[in-house]
Amino acid sequence: MSRPRVLFVSHMDGISGAEQVLVDLAKAWRDAAAFVFRAGPLSTALSDLGLDVTIPTGGNDLSVIRKDKPLLLALPSTLATISGLVGALARRARDCDLVYANSQKAFTLSALACLMARRPLIWHLHDSLDRQHFGATQRRMQITLANRLASRVIVPSEAAAAAFRAAGGRPGHVATIANGRDLAIDPAGKAELRQRLGLPAGPLVGVFSRLAAWKGQDVFLRALARCPDVTGIVVGSAMFAEDDFEMRLKALAREVAIEHRVRFLGRREDVPALMQAMDAVVHPSVAPEPFGLTLVEAMLVGVAVVASSTGACSEILADGRCGQLVEPGSVDGFAAAMRTAVAAPDAVRRQVAAATERARTVYSLARMQNGISALIHAHAAGAKP
Ligand code: GLC
Repeated sequence: MSRPRVLFVSHMDGISGAEQVLVDLAKAWRDAAAFVFRAGPLSTALSDLGLDVTIPTGGNDLSVIRKDKPLLLALPSTLATISGLVGALARRARDCDLVYANSQKAFTLSALACLMARRPLIWHLHDSLDRQHFGATQRRMQITLANRLASRVIVPSEAAAAAFRAAGGRPGHVATIANGRDLAIDPAGKAELRQRLGLPAGPLVGVFSRLAAWKGQDVFLRALARCPDVTGIVVGSAMFAEDDFEMRLKALAREVAIEHRVRFLGRREDVPALMQAMDAVVHPSVAPEPFGLTLVEAMLVGVAVVASSTGACSEILADGRCGQLVEPGSVDGFAAAMRTAVAAPDAVRRQVAAATERARTVYSLARMQNGISALIHAHAAGAKP
């Protein structure tokens, strides 16, 4: 088959890690189509790349269903919306050779649409299907759909693949293709960057991810309280109805008396420059991380990394060769590792050098694009007319 026509599907409007991966993949698929449930930064980014983007009516209504609730157990009123979306998706899929779902909701609806349209379906699963993230019913339903209706499931790490298999996923069904990033490095030094970004001189560490309880920003704040000379920044915003967590974090900063040493910067478009201005990037997830794109970004810009030894973090940091690993939730452990990182002894400098090399090779954008594109070609070739 010549170049297949691909339909990328996402239910998200904003751009978090999973959507960043989709946008980066789409740079190699500018002639593809996309079906995005709600208009927003993601649909704009895909259109800007040249993709032919459809935004259906009714997609907004699905936002009331949280990620840990099975979509097919939704209220009857929502089921009408779902069937409308599945119909629209099936019509769009018929013009394409393969459908590629980038989120759980997108996968559930795409699975039904692909049954109707008789098209192969790849599910890029950006979650760890484990009990810390999902209830038993949700896991069972997603795995059943995946085993029966997906041609292939892509996960970004061995940890996510193991969770998929442990939840009952067919072993041969899952392909591990690590996420990749390509970032422009700012030629400015740390001091100049800090001045430009309005950040203080002196020891400075940051945490970069959406604000969510399982991402562990509270552990970061408690650890920061035990590092008296260090200033911290918290970058990211709440995305999945977790605004109360943001308020709790700000209250915690006051409670542990560090409100003068921590800045909440919200969602930012200049993450690489901010990271480059840090002495260390901290990633304190308390539940298994399916990947942790932020780690690769920090590695690429050459900043020391401190992360929980959970999920994919150990894999990405090569079991500690490329950054310090700390037991998830250990406030003392994070405080000690943060102090070591800002002191930058030779051991940390060696980790940073190894990390940059690893990120440029193992986690390059080209490697991810090529790996996924090869799967798309292979499965599209089996598409039924
Ligand atoms: C999700 C995961 C994160 C991963 C990203 C891209 O946001 O929580 O670990 O880096 O998807 O796969």
